[in-house]
Amino acid sequence: MNDQNLDRQSSLHPETLAIRIQQKRGEREHSVPLYMTSSFVFDDAEQARAMFADEIQGNIYTRFSNPNVNEFIEKLTVLELAEDGIGTASGMSAVFTGMAALLKSGDHIVAARSVFGSTHQILVKILPKWGITHTYIEGSTREEWENAIQPNTKMFFLETPSNPGLQLYDLEMIGKLANEKGIILNVDNCFATPIIQQPMKYGAHLVTHSATKFIDGTKMRLIPPYQTVIFAADTSHEFASNLILDRPHPGLGTTLRQVLMGIKSTIYPEFPVFHSIY
Ligand SMILES: Cc1ncc(COP(=O)(O)O)c(C=O)c1O
Repeated sequence: MNDQNLDRQSSLHPETLAIRIQQKRGEREHSVPLYMTSSFVFDDAEQARAMFADEIQGNIYTRFSNPNVNEFIEKLTVLELAEDGIGTASGMSAVFTGMAALLKSGDHIVAARSVFGSTHQILVKILPKWGITHTYIEGSTREEWENAIQPNTKMFFLETPSNPGLQLYDLEMIGKLANEKGIILNVDNCFATPIIQQPMKYGAHLVTHSATKFIDGTKMRLIPPYQTVIFAADTSHEFASNLILDRPHPGLGTTLRQVLMGIKSTIYPEFPVFHSIY
């Protein structure tokens, strides 16, 4: 089997996909080597120009993309039934990025009350600084979610099971409502992992993981920078243009620059051809 050409819609079992989705082998190695390099070299100036111009795909700088991060993202997007994803430096930067990238001042989040403590801090301390408000609900009935929606509600956020309360939410019911109302459903799936639960089956648009939990199989390792935010299949949705189309330069720095400073494009004087539009 060619690991590079695995069909994303393959009928292979998740256990097989988790192992078989691998980067191209360079030396017939069994395990993928760690690419501990800040940047990558080019065959010639023309290849560099073409990569910076996004005419051909390839690794340029590790914050943009790196074979190990690429593999991690690819495995998770396939397992989570997502279209694309980005790797960030921690689970919290993933949670923050998903919210900061897709919301703007004046927007509102409806969140299930049982969220991880640091996510709570983002909702109550950080986002309000930029005029992004939230309403907490218990979240077990459709009425609660529906009644909490305001004209400016842009996102539903929940963890299921939650940390540490192990609260469970009805993804099918919440996903249906979110899609009926045109609201982004953002699910932190790090406790269940996609092996047990795939929120996108129920209409989630965004799935977040903290890779220090069950996704590493042991929940004991810290494997930065392989935390991830994953995006759904609907590229017509507003968030697709914010982040997915920015590939292959999905670094957190890019995202934050875009979101926090309102920068619409970057011109690199040394590379006039690389004019990055966000
Ligand atoms: C549900 C949940 N989301 C997000 C995070 C944050 O992840 P990290 O510690 O990798 O920043 C955690 C960490 O405990 C968590 O339990």
